[in-house]
Amino acid sequence: MENEDASIHDFDLSLICEYFSNLERQGPGSPEMTIKALSFIGNLNKNSKIIDIGCGTGGQTMVLGQNTMGNVTGMDIFPDFIDIFNNNAHKLGLNDRVNGIVGSMDDLPFQKEEFDLIWSEGAIYNIGFERGLKEWSKYLKKGGYVAVTDATWFTNNRPFEIEDFWVSEYPGITTMSDNIAIMQKSGYTPVAAFRLHENCWIENYYSPQIQVQEKFLQKHEGNKLVEEFISCERHEAKMYNKYKDYYGYVFYIGKKID
Ligand SMILES: C[S@@+](CC[C@H](N)C(=O)[O-])C[C@H]1O[C@@H](n2cnc3c(N)ncnc32)[C@H](O)[C@@H]1O
Repeated sequence: MENEDASIHDFDLSLICEYFSNLERQGPGSPEMTIKALSFIGNLNKNSKIIDIGCGTGGQTMVLGQNTMGNVTGMDIFPDFIDIFNNNAHKLGLNDRVNGIVGSMDDLPFQKEEFDLIWSEGAIYNIGFERGLKEWSKYLKKGGYVAVTDATWFTNNRPFEIEDFWVSEYPGITTMSDNIAIMQKSGYTPVAAFRLHENCWIENYYSPQIQVQEKFLQKHEGNKLVEEFISCERHEAKMYNKYKDYYGYVFYIGKKID
């Protein structure tokens, strides 16, 4: 290990960060799905303020920047992701309106009612769907929107293997109807909910990882933690291919009325 003071946990995080820095997306999604979700959101203009929480390197944030006129902030806990984000915004000529900052979703450094739109693709699970929706609501203006994707069960009953896998990965995973009820209970009017197409997982998320995994294993040859991590990533992709009828990501869009 380069840093002898780093704990295994620290090493894991830097490992995960290094691995995902090589990818355009850090979670399932697509520009088409981001644009479809945006189509349900009214009242955005050049004065609008948008925050993308858990933005990663900003794959979806750049799409938000290109399809809105306002000011877009991406926030992520990993500084390396934010460096890549800000480089990407610069390359795309969006850096006058699209900026990345480092911060944590469980302690947002913003003013009350600061935003017109709170976005978060594949990241709210870090604090849980209900907690995220409830806590973030205070940063949204009255009449503002929230749009998040989260892993969701598509059926009431599942084979044990996939139930077991997801409950250990994300105990909060539930059905679409449950999440819509949670959104309503958390102070939003549910506006739309739709399933992400499977190409968001296979073509945009798992396939690009195949090459990255080979290179990563070569770079860290003999590192057992890396081998373990890659084998977990491969297992997750296998589970998706086998059980994609039972779960996937759903976009949930809600409006804050009061
Ligand atoms: C599955 S990735 C999704 C990234 C990106 N939104 C996408 O769809 O490609 C989850 C992201 O949440 C970020 N994250 C994890 N915990 C966080 C926290 N407490 N605050 C902010 N971001 C966090 C991770 O660094 C990662 O970029």
